[in-house]
Amino acid sequence: MTKLHHKSINPHGGTLVNRVDDSAEQQKKADSLQKLPVTNWTISDLELIAIGGFSPLTGFMGEEDYTKVVDDLRLTDGTIWSVPITLPVTEAEAEKFDIGEEVALIGEDGVTYGYIKVDEKFTYNKEKEAQNVYGTTEEAHPGVKKVYEKGNVYLGGPITLTHRPSHGKFEEYYLDPAETRQLFADLGWNTVVGFQTRNPVHRAHEHIQKTALEAVDGLLLNPLVGETKSDDIPADVRMESYETILKNYYVDERVRLVIYPAAMRYAGPREAILHAIVRKNYGCTHFIVGRDHAGVGDYYGTYEAQNLISQYEAELEIGIFKFEHAFYCEVCENMASAKTCPHDKEHHVHLSGTKVRELLRNGERPPKEFSRPEVADVLIKGLKQN
Ligand code: ADX
Repeated sequence: MTKLHHKSINPHGGTLVNRVDDSAEQQKKADSLQKLPVTNWTISDLELIAIGGFSPLTGFMGEEDYTKVVDDLRLTDGTIWSVPITLPVTEAEAEKFDIGEEVALIGEDGVTYGYIKVDEKFTYNKEKEAQNVYGTTEEAHPGVKKVYEKGNVYLGGPITLTHRPSHGKFEEYYLDPAETRQLFADLGWNTVVGFQTRNPVHRAHEHIQKTALEAVDGLLLNPLVGETKSDDIPADVRMESYETILKNYYVDERVRLVIYPAAMRYAGPREAILHAIVRKNYGCTHFIVGRDHAGVGDYYGTYEAQNLISQYEAELEIGIFKFEHAFYCEVCENMASAKTCPHDKEHHVHLSGTKVRELLRNGERPPKEFSRPEVADVLIKGLKQN
């Protein structure tokens, strides 16, 4: 095994956080504390803080960091941070706990995953969070809806993860940031591009990944497998499609599939920055932001995420590969974009996500210019079972 060398990229804020302590002693301690039942979403945040995916955060945000993130996209020490990472509770729950008290966090499955030391309890302005982070106060936006559904009080303070969540059948694709960093060193990859996705890999995704890969040593295919909205394709169906496309169309030594166990916020431009920060923590030197990254509906402009991240790129210290909207052109007989294809739109194969899901649910393959047939078949089979 190669020793991790000096070329590896710095974690965000300088230190890779590790707040995992699953010793018997810590588990016993967690079991002895007052209990707070939380959502799967919170457990996923707890895990990402603990394993260093959200470095430099060491806990759920307190009021000062929260306010500065919402207002200025920065933590109080000036470090860039774009999306609040918070622990919401109801007023009645908040009253049960004293400041300074340690409280066990219990998942929806009844398991004690860890604890928080409650340094702060504070109320917050939901409309302001919605407007600043998601760019809208409309409840039709799935991220905003979540904000409105949450409790009215946030608990802030450092956390400890005493029980690592299980990732079921994805376990073999689970690595934490320290492990991906070691993996890249072992593979001899000095430069690695990270790819976020909540979708199957279609031809446009494949095209931008491989174009980026021409410029670096390796590709980390890092699909988000936490909570997504109900009409997105379920993660277990997607995972099989990733295995299939990698086996048939990628060079094994140049790509690794690792899950990103986070919840999807659909915060578009601000989430693109969060996604880049997390991949930097996983050891990626580059990150892809294509068209309408982490977007939903018509809430964001096609290149809004690219424009926002461009303002912070130098400070983020991770290279951002920005891609124009990619499509297959029947005249070029190639994947292309407005930058490379001079032909009329009528020659471009374009399908909406809704249309693709409709085809797949009807057992029909989308055109091979849109989706690899092997991938389409996995999706058709998977969606039948769901
Ligand atoms: S996301 O919510 O995870 O961003 P998706 O899985 O569709 O959604 O996208 C993954 C990445 O591929 C994002 O960076 C997105 O901008 C990019 N992308 C998706 N489709 C295209 C396309 N046709 N052309 C260019 N980039 C794209």
